[in-house]
Amino acid sequence: MARVALVTGGSRGIGAAISKALKDAGYSVAATYAGNDEAAAKFTEETGIKTYKWNVADYDESAAGIAKVEEDLGPVDIVVANAGITRDAPFHKMSKEQWHQVIDTNLTGVFNTVHPVWPGMRERKFGRVIVISSVNGQKGQFAQVNYAATKAGDLGIVKSLAQEGARAGITANAVCPGYIATEMVMAIPEKVRESIIAQIPAGRLGEPEEIARCVVFLASDDSGFINGSTISANGAQFFV
Ligand code: CAA
Repeated sequence: MARVALVTGGSRGIGAAISKALKDAGYSVAATYAGNDEAAAKFTEETGIKTYKWNVADYDESAAGIAKVEEDLGPVDIVVANAGITRDAPFHKMSKEQWHQVIDTNLTGVFNTVHPVWPGMRERKFGRVIVISSVNGQKGQFAQVNYAATKAGDLGIVKSLAQEGARAGITANAVCPGYIATEMVMAIPEKVRESIIAQIPAGRLGEPEEIARCVVFLASDDSGFINGSTISANGAQFFV
């Protein structure tokens, strides 16, 4: 039977490319979304991938949603914590609401997504936890104190989970995308975006599929000895 993969924020942007690539690789995929019913319905119609609506910032909603996915498709073997938001503002203008929204969704959301599937992975002695971090978690970013804190936090999460899961056949790794051509990046003011692209030696934004291919590799049996690592895919913008 095909392994089951859960992708949060899996119906749009990088998440949609990940869901599709995992399906193409033979996994049984569930994609979650937070609010955009129309985009989710269109995504399911186009791809045949089932979508589930819940707020990753809410633990009980996440646990109930995951229970429903497992009832429909079977136990989750691969979890891709991808859902994320930005609320950019220079620090002197950042409100505590902007801080908490981003922490709750991007960081607590990873806990809420992985924690319910972790006991099952331990029991079955197999699991793949893949967290989508960001180049901005590695290098920081003007106007992203909140976002960069969560994306740096992702790296601490996978390094810790890797140590806890290794003996149980579970790996936990992060992918750090650079600037990828998605709605999130297209929302940056054009002049600022152009100045960012100018700092990317590849001279272009990345494509969502370039991130999806990293995830498919980390999900595979072949990647079993890669644990607690970070794959950077940023067009040479930044080296750790
Ligand atoms: N570095 C240095 N200075 C910057 C800057 C940067 N990256 N971005 C903006 N500034 C400067 C502006 O040039 C401007 O300077 P002046 O006042 O001297 O003209 C000043 O900051 C802007 O100040 P404002 O008070 O006008 O800022 P604002 O309240 O209007 O906020 C902004 C504007 C939200 C910062 C906007 O410029 C912006 O969105 N910047 C991009 C931030 C960014 O890169 N976000 C990443 C989003 S993509 C993503 O997160 C995906 C991923 O993982 C890679």
